[in-house]
Amino acid sequence: MKMMYVRLTLLLTFFIGVCRAQEIIPFPNHYELTAGKLTIPRTLTISSSDSEFSGIIPVFRQSARDFYSVKVEQKDENGFIRLIRNSGEKNHEGYRLTIKPDGITVEAGYANGCFYGLQTVLQLAGNAAAGGSLRCAVIEDSPRYEWRGLMLDESRHFQGMTEVKRLLDFMALQKLNKFHWHLTDAQGWRIEIKKYPLLTEVGGKGDLTNPNGPVQFYTQEEIKEIVKYAGQRFIEVIPEIEMPGHATAAVKSYPEFGGGGSEQCPDFTFNPGEKETYGFLTDILDEIITLFPSRYIHIGGDEVHFGNEHWNDIAGVHQLMQAHQLKDLPDVEHYFLNRMADSLRVRGKIAVGWDEVVTAGLPKSGTLVMWWRHEKPQQLGEALTKGYEVVLCPRIPLYLDFVQYNLHTYGRRWSGGAFAPIESVYRFPGKEFTGGISVSSPLVKGIQGNVWTEKIATPERLQFMVFPRLSALAEAAWSDDDVKNYASFNLRMNNMISLYKRMGLTFFDYRNPENTPEIKDPVK
Ligand code: ACM
Repeated sequence: MKMMYVRLTLLLTFFIGVCRAQEIIPFPNHYELTAGKLTIPRTLTISSSDSEFSGIIPVFRQSARDFYSVKVEQKDENGFIRLIRNSGEKNHEGYRLTIKPDGITVEAGYANGCFYGLQTVLQLAGNAAAGGSLRCAVIEDSPRYEWRGLMLDESRHFQGMTEVKRLLDFMALQKLNKFHWHLTDAQGWRIEIKKYPLLTEVGGKGDLTNPNGPVQFYTQEEIKEIVKYAGQRFIEVIPEIEMPGHATAAVKSYPEFGGGGSEQCPDFTFNPGEKETYGFLTDILDEIITLFPSRYIHIGGDEVHFGNEHWNDIAGVHQLMQAHQLKDLPDVEHYFLNRMADSLRVRGKIAVGWDEVVTAGLPKSGTLVMWWRHEKPQQLGEALTKGYEVVLCPRIPLYLDFVQYNLHTYGRRWSGGAFAPIESVYRFPGKEFTGGISVSSPLVKGIQGNVWTEKIATPERLQFMVFPRLSALAEAAWSDDDVKNYASFNLRMNNMISLYKRMGLTFFDYRNPENTPEIKDPVK
């Protein structure tokens, strides 16, 4: 009797083990089980006859060790994992993965796809761990959206290299591919600009909690290190240099380019009425362009009306209005945005702006709009009608600094108390989030989660707000509606949560909300 019980338990453990091994996030778009199983060896060998694909192996080896303590060795041929170039695969990010009793092959047309095939292998093999087994299968996979992003604000509270690399690691594992880096704002300028050192010496000082705190910023060498680290993980880094508003840190450093503010937001803007302002900002963008290979440069453009009252009192602004027949301050704002976006376009870059730019008359080719004001779906509708490419990142539900559980006090809320639970992130972009506007247009490039840091000072708080919603975001961005299933996602989170624990993350255990940890953070 006892023997039978032991056997049954072993059998059950085996089946649970096999099932758990298939827990992948984001779930592949085509996953077909076939006959047989594959035992995972203690050391994974990997081979590739393609030199570009071989170049991906060192990062795979490092991730296998860091995430799962799995050892990977490169072999000249016949590895347990074989990487094969298949020129028939036209999707840059697509891959085909075949699991047979004698090993795993990853076929892809491009390095990006090969990398994503390996992320799937990493989760499969890491979850099964040495000695476990996988069901044989064929996976044919490519993403729903080409823009699968995360934005981090480092102006309000600086987070630093370690946290950024940690985010990039988890983004890559879950096939997110755009890191939007909000490096300048009112509370701090966080990127070294050689021509204007005061931007960081003065503008990098302090943060929202402690305006007189130490100077914190990234040197250009550090920026290059992050851009390279991200690139090795097939993540494009899009810098944001905010203008013409949210400019307080910059104009504190160089007041001669300031355009004043309002009572609510003093010293909020650059001065659009001085031609030197355009020279100053173009010099900055020239340095930015040498640091970031991305086709996209974000120039902000949001909330200018909060703090541009003082423009009314600047003679240069009146002259500009006369010279260019600008009738009011929004016209001046639009003139400014056009001029800066032009500077980017002649340098071969696409200007990205928040959804206020939809009315600025920017050319539709060479501009990408980020729709963020969830209460204004008409901005999204207008962007699409005007033919702009759009990334969807509405506050509700994609601002990951918003509260994620009703009883929580950590994070922001929208009026009426609205917040952003993980299930709503998962269900995005359901019609209920887009004011009924269809987002099936090819102009919709993808989706992005944004992490503002007014309410996030420490790494622990940052992690707590990002994890686990990052996993839901990843599946919403990659997996088609017909494979998305929230109940299945919750089961598959078993392994992801084990991984969060192994990596020592502070996270919200949303399936056991009473376990919410106390997080020390100076921000309430
Ligand atoms: C924003 O949240 N102000 C883009």
